[in-house]
Amino acid sequence: MHHNINIILGIETSCDETSVAVLNNGTVCSNIISSQVVHKEYGGVVPELASRAHLKMIVPIMNAALAQAGFSLEDIDAVAAVYGPGLVGALLVGLNFGKSLAWSRRIPFIGVNHMEGHVYSIFLEDEKPEYPFICLTVSGGHTDLLYIKEPLTYERLGRTRDDAAGEAFDKVAKMLGIGYPGGPVIDKLAKDGNPFAINFPRSYARAEHYDFSFSGLKTAVLYYLRDRNLLAGNGAPVAKSPELNDICASFQQAVVDTLVEKTRRAVADYGVKHVGVVGGVSANSRLREVFQNMASGNNSNVYFPRLEYCTDNAAMAAYAGWLRLIDGETSPASLAAVPNLNIA
Ligand code: KG4
Ligand code: ZN
Repeated sequence: MHHNINIILGIETSCDETSVAVLNNGTVCSNIISSQVVHKEYGGVVPELASRAHLKMIVPIMNAALAQAGFSLEDIDAVAAVYGPGLVGALLVGLNFGKSLAWSRRIPFIGVNHMEGHVYSIFLEDEKPEYPFICLTVSGGHTDLLYIKEPLTYERLGRTRDDAAGEAFDKVAKMLGIGYPGGPVIDKLAKDGNPFAINFPRSYARAEHYDFSFSGLKTAVLYYLRDRNLLAGNGAPVAKSPELNDICASFQQAVVDTLVEKTRRAVADYGVKHVGVVGGVSANSRLREVFQNMASGNNSNVYFPRLEYCTDNAAMAAYAGWLRLIDGETSPASLAAVPNLNIA
């Protein structure tokens, strides 16, 4: 069943990005992202402030997305909005806005799983992976290794047992006193550092599963900094240390090594030729290099979203919603936000 739905308005408000996108037949016409800056001074996202900022921004962001796409509300065939996982108050803003908009215009509505949105972020590019493929989702809240046999179906091979990959970047950046979110700052500082200067622990020793763990690595960085009096907040911040670049590069290398090792094994075990790496951490430049090397080593094809689609955005949600809508699926007006929504 192929439903005649072309122009989709997508909404994403699960965390600290207010984003609205317009897609026409799977092609992005606009993808407006407003990143909330109020959280910076707290070193992390403050849920109540996030909800309020979404409320303030949702209408102007929607208008900007429509204007850039060159459409008006009358042109929209359906609405897709993320309903989980995420912060409940933040999710409610986009979800309720999306449901009301669809209801008022008498057009279909679909709720989207944010993690499914991340997976389909690579489908916003011209070169799309073929099924089956392995997808590594690395964001601030998730580290999932998925086996995707056919569209919109997920088998989870592995997940993190403690911190998410992005969370590890953010926590280490906090120890270093170099700002939030930590990923982009560490990525930048690491460019002038030696990734093999400090041998931080890798947690792939136990090879019998595909799960990840980053808390040991995080603790190792903490002890390293504490032993050298470099911990942020204890007097001199490490930001002045000549070692800063090496610390960032070595930590980053340890994260990337762990991620690529498990992925490489899954690719071999499942005999797949296509691999996606998605989510905020997939923006990491060293990660991209190392996964490209893996792909040339095992003859696979690796797909990354462009940077705009790595971190949270509405275009990816609109695409995933569109796939479901053209398959005849819609969500009821009673759909509730699900903060801990799973993908598999
Ligand atoms: O997907 P995302 O925008 O939000 C979640 O769904 O969590 O991911 C945000 C995470 C943050 O932890 C941030 O530090 C990380 O992605 N990140 C990066 C980079 N850019 C963003 N991590 C490493 N290197 C980067 N260049
Ligand atoms: Zn995300």
